[in-house]
Amino acid sequence: MYSVEQIKAMGKEHNESNLLKLIEIFKLPNPIEIRREIVSSIGRQDNNDKVYIFMKYEAFNSENPMELIYQIFRTCLYKSKDDKRFSDLRQAIINYYHNENIKKMNDFYDFRQQRKNIKISDKINHPMLLAGDTSETLNIIPENSIQLAFTSPPYYNAREYSDYKSYAEYLEKMKDVFIACNRVIEEGRFFIVNVSPVITKRAGREFESIRYPIHYDFHKILIEAGFYFIDEIIWIKPEPSVPDRVSGYKQTRKPLSYKPNCITESIMVYRKNCNFLLDKNMKNYINYDKHENEEIDTSNCWFIAPKYDKNHPAVFPEELCRRVLKYYSFEGDTVLDPFAGSGTLGRVARKMNRIPIMCEINENYIELIEREEPGYYDLRGRSHKKYSQQINLW
Ligand SMILES: C[S@@+](CC[C@H](N)C(=O)[O-])C[C@H]1O[C@@H](n2cnc3c(N)ncnc32)[C@H](O)[C@@H]1O
Repeated sequence: MYSVEQIKAMGKEHNESNLLKLIEIFKLPNPIEIRREIVSSIGRQDNNDKVYIFMKYEAFNSENPMELIYQIFRTCLYKSKDDKRFSDLRQAIINYYHNENIKKMNDFYDFRQQRKNIKISDKINHPMLLAGDTSETLNIIPENSIQLAFTSPPYYNAREYSDYKSYAEYLEKMKDVFIACNRVIEEGRFFIVNVSPVITKRAGREFESIRYPIHYDFHKILIEAGFYFIDEIIWIKPEPSVPDRVSGYKQTRKPLSYKPNCITESIMVYRKNCNFLLDKNMKNYINYDKHENEEIDTSNCWFIAPKYDKNHPAVFPEELCRRVLKYYSFEGDTVLDPFAGSGTLGRVARKMNRIPIMCEINENYIELIEREEPGYYDLRGRSHKKYSQQINLW
């Protein structure tokens, strides 16, 4: 049996006997890692006539697992530049498989060929407070000018600050805001949303209340708004800090009546659609000062106590903001909270040398931010465009 290294070595040396040998050993029942390497090494060979015949047959051979098809497609991408047969085969594979990985490879390849740069607007150089409905107020912000957005959206039917006619209307509203965020976030940067399931009050004991798995539905609207899934971080709170749901079961011990205490919330990490790797975003920070001795949260479970605030019913703990800012933004970045509430993200962002853009609709919270956090440009009542030019915000 050949090792991966041996196959690689054969691929690097371009000659007829290696090509024939590679085609022959492809037929042997080797482990998938070896077979992948064989396809890749065949793809490197110069005799395009033979390589094409091999790729064309194997691309549609139903016995080949998708991992091999991806490798075949990769060869087609690189050879399509100079050989029309491969560019036709490339298109045929796209049409035949309708596969998201193949589509993504195709888009990444095209983007690289065009040697495009990331679109970035002029730098926003001052903290801003945008008062009003975020789906409208964000219009003042230039596209691609925000490096990170982190937020905790209004709870569906939280009595203190939101009331929607239906869950469908709530999701529609959230989607409008997410679309507005997508426009302003720089390509390839993160949009991070903190949510947990909610329950609405029932009208009487004879009715069942509805519990909404908000994060499942948010996934769909985030995708529709132009983001894709990266990670889910689970925020874990101490059990005594959450409402007790399990006491009924403790008393009766009757199966079916079990309701566990919910000590977690979801931190949904999404990235704005783009056709390049994160390396391209990171290249913008050549003089980045590495904090070598910093503690690192190695798992996706973050243990953080919740925060209670007399002025707002659902504030972020500062520690949660600190971690999100630390792992998903650089110093000097402009960061956005489209549902700012009491403005916790902005407060922490300023301490960490980021420039916050805070959006809030509720007058009481806007006043709270202004009182507690002086120094924001507040664009209320002014023609946004004119004002932003006057004070040279970016
Ligand atoms: C869960 S709270 C955010 C709390 C915040 N993370 C903090 O630390 O204080 C959600 C906030 O979104 C605001 N909000 C709801 N709909 C909005 C909209 N369309 N535009 C702007 N703000 C909105 C609510 O008034 C509420 O203060």
